[in-house]
Amino acid sequence: MQRQGAGITITQHILKQQRENPVATGAFTTLLNELIVAAKVISREVNKAGLVDILGSTGKINVQEEKVQKLDVFSNQIIIERMQHIGQLWCMGSEEDPDLIDIPPRFPKGDYILVFDPLDGSSNIDVNVSIGTIFGIYKRKSISSGSEPLLDDILQPGINQVAAGYFIYGSSTIMVYTTGKNTGVHGFTLFPSLGEFLLSHESIRIPEQGKIYSVNEGYHSYWDEKTRALVNHFKNSGKKTGHSYTARYVGSLVADFHRNLLKGGIFMYPADSKDPKKPTGKLRLMVEANPLAMVIKEAGGYASDGHGPILDIDPTELHQRVPLYIGSKKDVELAEAFISGKRTESS
Ligand code: AHG
Ligand code: MN
Ligand code: MN
Repeated sequence: MQRQGAGITITQHILKQQRENPVATGAFTTLLNELIVAAKVISREVNKAGLVDILGSTGKINVQEEKVQKLDVFSNQIIIERMQHIGQLWCMGSEEDPDLIDIPPRFPKGDYILVFDPLDGSSNIDVNVSIGTIFGIYKRKSISSGSEPLLDDILQPGINQVAAGYFIYGSSTIMVYTTGKNTGVHGFTLFPSLGEFLLSHESIRIPEQGKIYSVNEGYHSYWDEKTRALVNHFKNSGKKTGHSYTARYVGSLVADFHRNLLKGGIFMYPADSKDPKKPTGKLRLMVEANPLAMVIKEAGGYASDGHGPILDIDPTELHQRVPLYIGSKKDVELAEAFISGKRTESS
């Protein structure tokens, strides 16, 4: 762990990457720095949540048909308010907003698009379990001189992301991000006394095969046979292959993902028949699966919907959901073999 005051700040790291990128204009640096300020504000509120009246539900239901927690709303507002005035964004997309978020005419626009889950793991806010913010950044697609952002500016495959990452608000606040193109995945820990994120996890690589599987086994009766066979494989793997797994499931995607990224393993949110309106499971392609799929790919892992790469999916709507198998490459490829039917338990 870095000594207080020592170490590389996130700003220094971003500027170094900017210097190494011949086409960088500083616009991206401005964008990321402002997002970091928003995360620091959210982190402060999350860490006070036990003390002030920001706990609990607003009593409202969002576009996801989920109870909206006060901290969801707060985090969403903080990000939108901070990001809309920096002159670097064409538009935004948030898990908490049904439609595209325009940049108000009083602010200049830019060429980047920010999609985000302002607060991931909302069900864990009131019980002091780690939660997070997930983000993905694209360049706008439409080259038309038109001033109106179009939905299809945002609906791009995850492979088009120019950067992606997350903040995890846990025992410490950590930011993990990548700008792709083999620049690696790097983690920064917030030192509240400094108000700075310092480099703490340089060039994160996920083990090719892990020993952790993460899935909500409470949904066993809602899964199809292939999914049950897959989860059974991880349960019985020790006896069958000598390579045993342990089960870990926090219920905050960012927390489960971050642990598996550092230790190795697979996180699964399979399709289920629990809610006929959500046949492909609960997680969202644009604001959860795609950003984490870019991070995991850059860290040497893999993310699949059970049939192919998450990053190759052409989105058709802003809030579309997708089954997610993400983590160590070997484990996710095995999940794909089961879900696509190429492999059954017996083989
Ligand atoms: P969000 O709080 O942004 O709605 O995300 C919650 C998600 C994700 O964080 C987690 O992996 C998943 O919900 C847990 O869902 P289940 O409770 O259905 O397992
Ligand atoms: Mn989420
Ligand atoms: Mn959320």
